[in-house]
Amino acid sequence: MSKLIVAGRQKLSGATEIQGAKNSALPILAASLLAKGENVLYNCPVLSDVEASCRVLRYLGCTVSRTAHTLVIKTDGVTRGEIPEELMRKTRSSILFLGAMLAAGGSVRLSLPGGCEIGRRPIDWHLKGLRELGALITERHGRLECQAPYGLTGARISLSFPSVGATENIMIAASKANGTTTIINAAREPEITDLADYLNKCGAKIDGAGEGIVVIEGVKELRACSHTVIPDRIAAATLMSCAAVTGSRICIKNIIGSHLGAVIPVFEEAGCQIECRDGELCFAAPKRLKAFKTVRTMPYPGFPTDAQAPLLAAACTAKGTAVFVENIFENRYRHVSELARMGANIKTEGRVCVVEGVPALYGARVEATDLRGAAALVAAGLCAESVTTIGGVQYLERGYESLEQTLCSLGANVKKI
Ligand code: UD1
Repeated sequence: MSKLIVAGRQKLSGATEIQGAKNSALPILAASLLAKGENVLYNCPVLSDVEASCRVLRYLGCTVSRTAHTLVIKTDGVTRGEIPEELMRKTRSSILFLGAMLAAGGSVRLSLPGGCEIGRRPIDWHLKGLRELGALITERHGRLECQAPYGLTGARISLSFPSVGATENIMIAASKANGTTTIINAAREPEITDLADYLNKCGAKIDGAGEGIVVIEGVKELRACSHTVIPDRIAAATLMSCAAVTGSRICIKNIIGSHLGAVIPVFEEAGCQIECRDGELCFAAPKRLKAFKTVRTMPYPGFPTDAQAPLLAAACTAKGTAVFVENIFENRYRHVSELARMGANIKTEGRVCVVEGVPALYGARVEATDLRGAAALVAAGLCAESVTTIGGVQYLERGYESLEQTLCSLGANVKKI
């Protein structure tokens, strides 16, 4: 198992490009199953989660090849009607193949998805939505048997919460249903808009993506297209946290500033200076951050749950007290005990976490247990007084493309062993 060795007291400087968004690439890969021909996906990050989705596509009969950040997916019909448990368990996004396979072939057998353990991650809203489109789904011992013997039929689907995954699954399935589907209280994340843009280029008729009501007029056929994945706003927020905690000045290129609308003000309130123009974000942190105001994670356009952990690491050495409220997942503070080993003064109570800034963190041996928690430990390690050894690097690699190399290109000393 690899480990990261992070030298402390680092200052970052210079410029770096941000990777393509994992949370866009994964749903688009699932949706590509529906688009016959040769799909070309640009700006597709090299990540273990992306590779896991490619393995599912190959298992189902597609040809997938990669050259640097370009993936070519050839789909000429699904040749299998099931996905083995071992492939389903690799990621949470594997569940998006359910909507795609129902729309493509009408029947599928698969097991429950895996993904990081950050709290209960049920799929009841995905199943409810797909059932409303006419799918017959039975669940037995963690296996799902799903059929749409008469095809899927458009419906009006109300989500009780704007679930990202459920919105994506329904959107993918509805794009080839008979008739019109309306999703009420749809998730509005930029990755939803990116998925809709890809599907629309393939010939789908999706209107309103990025808003609370999405209308999908089903079409008979989708044809492969070329698409460029949007930049990863969470990877950007992570680099901002790394720069903030080390009092650094960096520029992040290939960014969509509006996607960071809830993140930028939080750093500004802590004393950072941020300029975002022409796809480039220049970030300058003070020597020591002021305390963050209360940070509440929310569905987009609110503060993203995925950026909570790296930001929390930055709060550890800020001047004063910060309060975090995690509203999306109930078990998303697993990095806190590891940050405490490094000298952080943090208390959690249910969904609330109170961080009393300390003057310094100290290097320690710590263990990551989920993707964004791993990123938090890297950020903390960069500012610690001595060397930090981070285990559980495989979690980091689910979502960050060579973070250690990116940080080294900005002057840090991070090694993978
Ligand atoms: C969530 C995040 C997304 C992030 C991703 C990976 C939100 C709203 N969603 O998406 O931004 O990129 O994690 O970390 O911030 N739920 C159910 N039943 C369901 C589906 C969801 O109860 O069928 C609950 C979940 O337990 C969770 C909440 O709804 O508490 C949000 O879930 P959802 O948006 O679906 O999660 P992801 O799609 O994984």
